[in-house]
Amino acid sequence: MTPEPSRWPAALRGRLAFGGDYNPEQWPEAIWNEDVALMREAGVDLVAVNVFGWADVERSPGHHDFSRLDRVMDLLAAHGVHVDLGTGTASPPPWLSHQHPETLPVTADGVRLWPGGRQAWCPSSAVFRERALDFVREVAVRYRAHPALSLWHASNELGCHNAHCYCDVSAAAFRGWLRSRYGDLDRLNEAWGTAFWSQRYGQWSQVLPPRAATATPNPTQQLDFRRFSSDELLGHFRAERDLLREITPAIPVTTNFMVTQHIDALDYAAWAPEQDLVANDHYVIAADPEGHVELAFCADRTRGLAGGGPWLLMEHSTSAVNWQPRNVAKRPGEMLRHSLAHVARGADGVCFFQWRASRAGSERFHSALVPHAGTDTKVWREVVELGRVLDRLDEVAGTRVEAEVALVADYQSQWAVEADSTPTVDVTGLDRAHALHRAAWAAGVTVDVIPPTAELGSYRVVLVPTLHLVRDDTARAIDDYVRRGGHVLVTYFSGIVDEHDHVRLGGYPGAFRELLGVRVEEFFPLRVGEVVHLDDGSIADVWVELLHLDGARAEASYADGPLSGVPAVTCRRAGEGLAWYCATRLDDSGTFALVQRVLEKAGVRPEAEVPPGVEAVRRHGDDRSYLFLVDHTGQGATVSASGTELVSGTRCDGRVHVPAGGVAVVREDG
Ligand code: GAL
Repeated sequence: MTPEPSRWPAALRGRLAFGGDYNPEQWPEAIWNEDVALMREAGVDLVAVNVFGWADVERSPGHHDFSRLDRVMDLLAAHGVHVDLGTGTASPPPWLSHQHPETLPVTADGVRLWPGGRQAWCPSSAVFRERALDFVREVAVRYRAHPALSLWHASNELGCHNAHCYCDVSAAAFRGWLRSRYGDLDRLNEAWGTAFWSQRYGQWSQVLPPRAATATPNPTQQLDFRRFSSDELLGHFRAERDLLREITPAIPVTTNFMVTQHIDALDYAAWAPEQDLVANDHYVIAADPEGHVELAFCADRTRGLAGGGPWLLMEHSTSAVNWQPRNVAKRPGEMLRHSLAHVARGADGVCFFQWRASRAGSERFHSALVPHAGTDTKVWREVVELGRVLDRLDEVAGTRVEAEVALVADYQSQWAVEADSTPTVDVTGLDRAHALHRAAWAAGVTVDVIPPTAELGSYRVVLVPTLHLVRDDTARAIDDYVRRGGHVLVTYFSGIVDEHDHVRLGGYPGAFRELLGVRVEEFFPLRVGEVVHLDDGSIADVWVELLHLDGARAEASYADGPLSGVPAVTCRRAGEGLAWYCATRLDDSGTFALVQRVLEKAGVRPEAEVPPGVEAVRRHGDDRSYLFLVDHTGQGATVSASGTELVSGTRCDGRVHVPAGGVAVVREDG
């Protein structure tokens, strides 16, 4: 069971926080008064300051000038705005790398990166750690009793740009990490399978990070390096957090995760229990027409990491970002919809990057709460409206989403499946996870996206998409869960390797073979564009398997392709439960139909009867519940509900109207 991070800032309890990153050091002081007046107008009550403040405060090594930050903190306190105070260590000042070039990270090719961007530091650098902690101490001591201080924001998006460093310092730290994992070289050689390609290590000094090599580096070495890199940054977080706890024990500490489509550098399952509260940054990918469904996945995964409890949306955007190839602006209403979609899925606060759009620097074309064009704008009017709506929804704070379905997603398995030298590049870590989640989303069913260590007992259905690397205890827990009456749906390339990335022998899908009642003798990856048809009419691509039934029955078989007649979808009664297996990559409608069957068999009902494209999620309090309805169709909808609709403040008896492209939140009658 993932322990629940539970320390919510005292000042923010009982309400939904609203705000964003505030970087007043980029502006003349004359603007600050306007800033706080506008914050008031919009109802902003939480801002993150000093996130990139190190160079501004410590102008030269050991010389701190806090006068500007003092004035900012005082001004915010005077206007009742709470501060999520950055420790400021995300990006070191230029003097650090100038004095200590060895603190700069090195790529796998041996290129030492230059300063000039951000996060240019090696996670294993003792010099960086020492200077960063000195700065954290200065900041913490300075503001320990400041009335604005509500939450600590340790560093920022740790590992966004510097997760993997291959320098000699990192190599030594990697060896240290390996020593404590394996104890001796024999065990390391065994775990890494170094009998292959003459890779046996005779001395620790021979062991290196997986630097650029002539041929694919050892996969277990790669996997361990990713584990090490995640742990190394977690070590940095812990060091900052422990120092902060020593100086300000009453102030919770967090750092902003990046649970998002394109970033997977850190194993947040290990990080989440270390946080006082889980915070996440999420940006929709403009090129994804289904961005709101991906948003739902990430919000469900963040909640899963938070042990089901509330979490904080630390950053998203009011409109376009600046770092995608084509930065599409949000359409009217989209920002409110996205914000409340996060709240529906457990966020107890909605914050943005950033308060005021920068004039200079890399992010000058990134949207903000206050755009370049000022307040006579779509964005500002929507910001003010969002502030009002969040106020009306304050009573939702502290309530929980209760899902009947879980989906197991594991960063380590993602890493393993995406390593080189697998059967096909077309099987990726989260492809099936998104597909199954999307199907449940379309069915109006809420899913907890959980790490493999989470308790399964309370779910009617557990989805196991491409859980390629699986530990014995996780496989056992899934087995037990089914035998006690649970329903599971496993997809292809699951259960294949153990925690060392060694293939489980005797037939695939290894760890789940017995539970699923199938035995696969060979994978048959398909060529680009090749599709196969199943005898139930569905279509699939990418992957098929030479599968034999061994206790399961075939639910659908291939009607053509290299394995015509071979079962593709199977089901088996195991103990009191049902174990489904899908051995191929069904298209969306096939996936939807399969997930629908699995859910129906398990008695899972949608949150509400809604038309396609309308999202329905419920949050539960001790004696009340809130039904969130988000219209993504642009048409609006009428849905059965009785209670008080909080966005408009009107009563609904039997039916509630969801405005076109808008949101309704019903506090339901008894
Ligand atoms: C995040 C980061 C912010 C800002 C934002 C832009 O990665 O924490 O500082 O860069 O993205 O979208």
